[in-house]
Amino acid sequence: MGSGLILGIESSCDETAAAVVRSGEQVLSNVVLSQTAIHQPYGGVVPELASREHLRAIVPIVRKALEDAGQTYESVDALAVTQGPGLAGALLVGISYAKALCFALDKPLIAVNHLEGHIHAVLLEERRKGNRELHSPVLALVVSGGHTHLYLAESRGQCWTYRNVGHTRDDAAGEAFDKVAKLLGLGYPGGPVIDKLAPFGDRTAVKFTISQMKHVDRKDRDLAAGDGQPRFDFSYSGIKTALLRYVETHHLQDDIELRRKALRSLTRPSIDDYRRVCDQRTLDLVASFQHAMVEDLVSKTLETARSYDVATLFVTGGVAANSHLRHRFEESAAQGGFPVYFPSRPLSTDNAAMIAAAAYPKLLARDFAPPELSAEASLALR
Ligand code: KG4
Ligand code: ZN
Repeated sequence: MGSGLILGIESSCDETAAAVVRSGEQVLSNVVLSQTAIHQPYGGVVPELASREHLRAIVPIVRKALEDAGQTYESVDALAVTQGPGLAGALLVGISYAKALCFALDKPLIAVNHLEGHIHAVLLEERRKGNRELHSPVLALVVSGGHTHLYLAESRGQCWTYRNVGHTRDDAAGEAFDKVAKLLGLGYPGGPVIDKLAPFGDRTAVKFTISQMKHVDRKDRDLAAGDGQPRFDFSYSGIKTALLRYVETHHLQDDIELRRKALRSLTRPSIDDYRRVCDQRTLDLVASFQHAMVEDLVSKTLETARSYDVATLFVTGGVAANSHLRHRFEESAAQGGFPVYFPSRPLSTDNAAMIAAAAYPKLLARDFAPPELSAEASLALR
């Protein structure tokens, strides 16, 4: 259809993003406005503030994406927007704007699941590199601030189908990184800071154990495609509590408060600033926490890959930007004989290029959204 030009819009959480992508592989523009500075003082995303900021940003961000791509509202073939999962109010901003544009321009609208977007970030990057030989079935670990989900993904021509075979029972991995960073007075979001500080600590200093939950779960049979096959679930609320206990038993609270205050007084703390306010014990704690998280994610994903006999591994979502995670996945997947693929770091975290890329097969199939499309905060991926 046309030249396969899709304008993608993403507003599911705290990034307002727009991108123009041709045929699911050529990124003509990719604009992301992060609201981190707005939410930082609250130590997490405040839904009402997120919606307000999306409203403020959506028109200029979409204009910039078109401008950067050398395109106009008229020249794109279709629009794509994230339908869910995410914050309902935040999603509605993107959806309402996309619907209004499509109505005014008489263009089709494609609804995209945010998690499918993260998976297509990998496909987009590989196609861009000329790698069209990705073998199905794929096991995709989507690991972000809101999700730690394992999907078996299979392609039939351009179209993909998904089956959930594991997910977190409580906190998502990114959420655990963010909560632990907050607990240690390191601010929000925690993942990138922990990633940068961990190499300065001893990851064997503190032993954290993470709950193991491999079992056939009757309650989740629907999600496991009704075949009673094993699920590989995660749980990360325990490690956060273990870290809190460590802080309490070692009386670290006063130091943490001083660190919090010192970092708050800096506008954009550098990694050296963070290091200056962390003693060796804290660096060891950070390194040990990250190591435990990464080992759990890697071992459960590889166990699932072996159990379902998959051909390829994808690791995507915000936490996939983590250097230690990438390194350990590459090492372990090579030992296990699986090729593993990640998106580049800018496409690991939330963006709209992945939404436009995931929409391309739907454009080919003329799978368009109905006029009554609305936000679905807990939209499942199938
Ligand atoms: O995919 P994403 O941008 O948004 C969601 O869909 O949630 O992921 C954001 C999450 C946050 O929890 C953030 O702390 C985490 O990804 N994150 C990282 C890194 N960069 C972002 N976690 C660990 N290491 C990183 N380098
Ligand atoms: Zn995401």
